[in-house]
Amino acid sequence: MSALPQQVLPLTAKVVGGRLEIGGCDVVDLAERHGTPVFVYDEVHLRERAREAVAAFGDGATYASKAFLCRAMARLVAEEGMGIDVATGGELHVALAGGMPPARITLHGNNKSSDELRAALQIGIGHVVVDSFDEIDRIEALVRAGTPAPRVFVRVTPGVEAHTHEYVMTGQDDSKFGFGLSSGAAGEAIARVNASDAMELVGVHAHIGSNIFLLSSFEKAIEKLAPFVAPLDLPELSLGGGLGVAYVEGEEAPSIGEWAGVLHRACAAHGITAKLVVEPGRSIVAGAAVTLYRVGTIKHLPGIRTYVSVDGGMSDNPRPVLYGSGYEAFLPRETEADRPLVATIVGKHCESGDVLVRDAQLPADLAVGDILATPVTGAYGHSMASNYNKVPRPPVVFVRDGDDRVVVRRETFDDLLALDVE
Ligand code: LLP
Repeated sequence: MSALPQQVLPLTAKVVGGRLEIGGCDVVDLAERHGTPVFVYDEVHLRERAREAVAAFGDGATYASKAFLCRAMARLVAEEGMGIDVATGGELHVALAGGMPPARITLHGNNKSSDELRAALQIGIGHVVVDSFDEIDRIEALVRAGTPAPRVFVRVTPGVEAHTHEYVMTGQDDSKFGFGLSSGAAGEAIARVNASDAMELVGVHAHIGSNIFLLSSFEKAIEKLAPFVAPLDLPELSLGGGLGVAYVEGEEAPSIGEWAGVLHRACAAHGITAKLVVEPGRSIVAGAAVTLYRVGTIKHLPGIRTYVSVDGGMSDNPRPVLYGSGYEAFLPRETEADRPLVATIVGKHCESGDVLVRDAQLPADLAVGDILATPVTGAYGHSMASNYNKVPRPPVVFVRDGDDRVVVRRETFDDLLALDVE
């Protein structure tokens, strides 16, 4: 039984008479006014993390938009001086709609279509991260047909297994991403790109995985990359994203500044002088948000467990189902209360796997109708949300200095029919 560890709360979180405020707004009141479920983002937290990245990496700081993207987020990132990485034509569309200048956008993807590449090249996108020989063919065909030649990174898999969930490991030899270093494919790709006048090679790119807590995993990747990268003497090196964040009690993650220190020192130690580019996603946004739900039912199964059902679930946070991810839970009406009740928080979807928090610790007086919060839900929650069971996706509310503004509205039942043509 322990109270909520305060480090999982957003930067401006403040407890006033037991009740949680974020951005100067009472959280229970936000839930009452905006309805539940709702994603509440602390704008100061988002900006602070973006500033930390820019302070450490200058214009090499590129936000990985897959973690959380909407127009307001793209705008915020642009204002704070970060670039943005997009992995699809859809992310590109939203980043542009948010006002991100094309020159500060990087296009990723292991299967970019000709349409996606054409759109990117035509607007003068900052970088394309070349991921396959087929893509090199596609870019060459587009440039022959008249689109401008892009500046490119060549994505390499350095052959390291980052210490993280296997679904989000990307640096190992057996990967759908990039060109293998050990197989020789990476060298071949560099030679092809160098020989092509349809693209300008500016650097090597390597992203080893996501939610990585051990900075030594990044050092290992740099050590593996160095003999390949240093002799090329290219102006840039992108090391992707992947810095982990603390989700639950007992976890501790390095700060963006600490991560930057390790990356810069390891590169220097291995003779890499290229400008460092990084693509943090989770570490910018995860801790900025809490999701608010309303408790609908409480079932005590004697000798088995207690189930607490809330009005969202795997449609707004699929991470527990996909990766077995853990979260804290608490009642913002008594933020610092002891949490002696052990219960499993489930959603409203039609399957038993619809679990949000297994064996959550909760206050003993938890009751139907309570607003329940799960912190550290700013990354890969809204962005991976679905309409499973035709549940409308929750809105996104930004809070700051006592003001709250809806930046993405709640879906309506009519939205659920918007694409049906018959
Ligand atoms: N750059 C590249 C090329 C990536 O593939 C990714 C994440 C990032 C940057 C950002 O990584 P971050 O800093 O957010 O770790 N859905 C999973 C995470 C998938 C990450 C995919 N790529 C999750 O919810 O844990």
